[in-house]
Amino acid sequence: MEKEKRILTGDRPTGKLHLGHYVGSLENRLKLQKEYDTFLIIADVQALTTNFEEPDKLSHDVHQVAEDYLAVGIDPEETTILVQSMIPEIAELTVFYSMLVTMNQLHRNPTIKAESEQYGYEDMSYGFIGYPISQAADITFCKADLVPVGQDQLPHIEQTRKIVRKFNQLYEPVFKEPEPMISRIPRLVGLDGKNKMSKSLDNAIYLNDDQETVLEKVMSARTDPARIRATDPGHPEECTVFQYHKAFNEEDVPEIEKRCKAGTIGCVACKKRLAKAINELLDPIRERRQKYIDNPELVDEIIMSGTKRAKSIAEETIKEVKEAMKLDYYK
Ligand code: TRP
Repeated sequence: MEKEKRILTGDRPTGKLHLGHYVGSLENRLKLQKEYDTFLIIADVQALTTNFEEPDKLSHDVHQVAEDYLAVGIDPEETTILVQSMIPEIAELTVFYSMLVTMNQLHRNPTIKAESEQYGYEDMSYGFIGYPISQAADITFCKADLVPVGQDQLPHIEQTRKIVRKFNQLYEPVFKEPEPMISRIPRLVGLDGKNKMSKSLDNAIYLNDDQETVLEKVMSARTDPARIRATDPGHPEECTVFQYHKAFNEEDVPEIEKRCKAGTIGCVACKKRLAKAINELLDPIRERRQKYIDNPELVDEIIMSGTKRAKSIAEETIKEVKEAMKLDYYK
């Protein structure tokens, strides 16, 4: 059966995926892949915006992200996994779109601002400040209807919608405006209790952490600082562990909230229950992953056939774009 609508979303290959990725978008992708023609882009060119100095890591990280997708249950029969740099049409679209975006729009993008601060960029590279344009090319090469992402990606979707409107109005109505889809947990806090869960801040629980590592990491998570003894009344809203219960152990949330506030459950017991819930989520992922660890060529084949399908769609789109822009001379 042909699916009517498309999803495109993806990740930068910068290493292993973690629980923030899981609640931020993977969960929605899993739910929707049967209903939508789903494309997952492994955005290796976008990863270069910050990692251009370590090219040796890239091919390993591309494989790692695809393995993570397959381990969580992304089904290659339903979902097309593709590598960004293998589709030159995306780079072409990026160049055309770059005429439709002003420097002020890029400078005002709050995610670019936050990331440039995080990386300590005073003088951003052209590729870095411009990556929202390349992300618009990612989203539109397949004319995606829906883009499941974490909250920090909203400015990029808005930028994409602006580009689409401008393109359609200037040339021909080739594209549709994609809709963002925000996850149940818009931003998962890291184990430090302060920042977003992120590999670069070393505050993450990875999808391939083993059971003991999960327990250790949960035990190290920051809790309500006002709670010294187990019988002190707690403030769940200020506790990282409680945020994780909401994300990974929804059923027990009312009970834990009540007992924490009353001082009838200690932080250690509370953390143990959380680690158990996270491990229950990760167990089937661990099991599925084993097959791909034993047969890494399966992952490569899935990437190659997905990229091939995506490329033929991108070729159609670039043809329409060039016609619309009257760049179709000497046919
Ligand atoms: N910027 C996204 C991130 O950092 C990754 C990404 C690249 C993406 N291209 C995309 C997300 C297209 C959604 C759609 O997580």
